[in-house]
Amino acid sequence: MELLTLRSNRNGLKGEIEVPGDKSISHRSIMFGSIANGMTTVTNFLLGEDCLSTISCFRKLGVLIEQDTQKVVIYGKGMSELQEPKDILDVGNSGTTIRLLTGILAGLHFHSTLIGDSSIGKRPMTRVVTPLREMGAKIDGREEGKYTPLSVRGGNLQSITYRLPVASAQVKSAILFAGLNADGITTVIEPVPTRDHTERMIQRFGGKISRHENEIQVEGGQKLLGTEIHVPGDISSAAFFLVAGCIVSNSSITLKNVGLNPTRTGIIDVLQSMGASIDIQIDAADAFEPTGTINVMSSKLKGTVIEGEIIPKLIDEIPIIALLATQAEGVTVIKDAHELKVKETNRIDTVVMELKKLGADIQATDDGMIITGGTKLTGAKVNSHGDHRIGMMLAIASQICEGEMILENVNAIAVSYPAFFEHLHILSN
Ligand code: S3P
Repeated sequence: MELLTLRSNRNGLKGEIEVPGDKSISHRSIMFGSIANGMTTVTNFLLGEDCLSTISCFRKLGVLIEQDTQKVVIYGKGMSELQEPKDILDVGNSGTTIRLLTGILAGLHFHSTLIGDSSIGKRPMTRVVTPLREMGAKIDGREEGKYTPLSVRGGNLQSITYRLPVASAQVKSAILFAGLNADGITTVIEPVPTRDHTERMIQRFGGKISRHENEIQVEGGQKLLGTEIHVPGDISSAAFFLVAGCIVSNSSITLKNVGLNPTRTGIIDVLQSMGASIDIQIDAADAFEPTGTINVMSSKLKGTVIEGEIIPKLIDEIPIIALLATQAEGVTVIKDAHELKVKETNRIDTVVMELKKLGADIQATDDGMIITGGTKLTGAKVNSHGDHRIGMMLAIASQICEGEMILENVNAIAVSYPAFFEHLHILSN
């Protein structure tokens, strides 16, 4: 277990960084590149462990993928040319890899087995297994398909109309991938909109997909063509420095090339409603995935209520928003976020447990948390619990703690942001 000792920041965080490529988009660029015909070139690919797991799985399915730092070239031959893997497909810590990949494998006439780490072993797979079985795939797994290991024997899929029981882009995407390989038109109905990177990417690869309100339709049998993808910076990674800029005194941080897809920008709405000094310049609003430059400065904040349709737009940012709320005047309530319980850790429990160790006034509720702000945090021994976003939230907390913090299990951060401490160091000088 790797430990790191962190001390508070006295001079403010200042300067400019470019956050790493978006995790969701990096995964999808490999998946679509692998099922398309022809070469796909991906730049600014995220070299986090999760996305490297996706590359490794597609190599095992027979796809030639060259990777040289952040540039990846995929030589796709079409969905039907993916080959039966001789080995188990190991997704590591990545929920996006296992859920989306299962959607692809559901349409292929061979057998495969998927596993992941101990966190993946606790995450619910029924949400993808149920609709994919309904489409005709044979999928089994521990406790009748609730958990990994999963085994898939796919092929002969029928289209379905499926109303998602939970707002999940991973489940929507798994069904859309399967729909591309099914007879007829597959319809997915979302309870509230979730991130739409899969839909954007189908179009980018020359495919057709339509959306009417919360209903998304895709036709099976479409041929996708290789393309070029430049991955925007990950707003979920930027979020740590957006919050750091607000809560560390004397700070002014500029983040460049941040992805600003409107299905992901809930954190910006929350920062604005809490009174943050934040300035955004959009690069090109009509891009495949819009991006921009964000500047944030130390701010006087007030509590807020976060609930309803905004939740999927900031679900991964809730750990760092909880830290933000500890520094705001008044109470912040986060509701409708049951999904936090089935992320890399139960993030209601891990956020509350670790922030309490630092002296925060925070209570868990059944679907979120209640935080009373204005607390001076003090250093303590804390733990990421193997969850990258908990690790980064705590590392940002260390910047405002009185006294030293010892962060256990710090290596988890490499899952989505291997350069995190390097960037923190750049801003600290
Ligand atoms: C993701 C969707 C979200 C998010 C995860 C990445 C994706 O999960 O929490 O980190 O890439 O589709 P759900 O769709 O299950 O909420």
